[in-house]
Amino acid sequence: MTDALASFRLDGKVAVLTGGGSGIGKATAELFGAVGAKLVLGDIDEAGAEATAAEIREGGGEAVAQRCDITVKADLDALVARAVADHGRLDVMGNIAGVPHNQMIVDVTEDELDRMLAINLKGPFYGVQAALAQMLSQDEGGSIINVASSGMDFAAPTLSVYAMTKAAVASLSRTAAIEGAHKKIRVNTIAPGATVSAFTEVSVTDAEGNVNPDALEGKIKMLAGASPMQMVGDVDDQANLMLYLASDASKFATGQIWRCNGGAPMVW
Ligand SMILES: NC(=O)c1ccc[n+]([C@@H]2O[C@H](COP(=O)([O-])OP(=O)(O)OC[C@H]3O[C@@H](n4cnc5c(N)ncnc54)[C@H](O)[C@@H]3O)[C@@H](O)[C@H]2O)c1
Repeated sequence: MTDALASFRLDGKVAVLTGGGSGIGKATAELFGAVGAKLVLGDIDEAGAEATAAEIREGGGEAVAQRCDITVKADLDALVARAVADHGRLDVMGNIAGVPHNQMIVDVTEDELDRMLAINLKGPFYGVQAALAQMLSQDEGGSIINVASSGMDFAAPTLSVYAMTKAAVASLSRTAAIEGAHKKIRVNTIAPGATVSAFTEVSVTDAEGNVNPDALEGKIKMLAGASPMQMVGDVDDQANLMLYLASDASKFATGQIWRCNGGAPMVW
């Protein structure tokens, strides 16, 4: 019989994560570091990623940070190259970085559309491309996890651009899963439901960067109300799912969309 808990460990596995400076990326990095992974964290917020890496090192784990703007292919290539230079391989790629967007279709400018496509769509594409090339060359399997959103599961005013980027990411994962399958490279998507992080604060933050606490509380209540359990998630809920998909515990799982969302889409 296999040791179920041991199959969730990442000892010796080399993992690259984007978005490691905050929220789901930070929580995932901390969890991966605690179960033995060697981490390379990328974020446009280099200080944030470095703070996460420092926390992991202080806890006895292994992590470095590198500035990475996921809209730039060369930055993602460099992130994977850093993992290979430091550790000789890549086992896990988590394309986590992303940004929210809320605007009615008729108001979206060309520049805004291009910005969102560059971050939420081209970013994960470049990450998959860099990881797949490295993992194919290693010929020892691997796990790529892309972060979409429950926003892809329903229609609501102002969600057009965000939801279409996330639906496209899920589609990208399926194609990558087919292209990597012959080498046992697994590619999965997670579609988080409302998860409290800096992401939640964006729509209740003024131009000077101040969060309106009443508006934030109201928003969290509204998001919780969308779940039959009347709750929002926290970043660890998504990190736990990321660990399952990164580890050998999920060795038979590929090309799927994994939804940890409080059951919200059941009642939409
Ligand atoms: N929080 C939620 O409710 C929720 C729900 C569904 C999906 N998601 C998705 O989860 C992912 C992580 O979100 P989060 O909640 O942790 O948000 P967050 O804002 O806490 O973290 C996002 C991170 O991405 C980084 N980032 C932004 N633009 C970047 C760029 N161009 N290059 C590199 N890094 C960049 C930010 O600096 C930040 O560290 C996103 O893809 C988001 O769309 C979040």
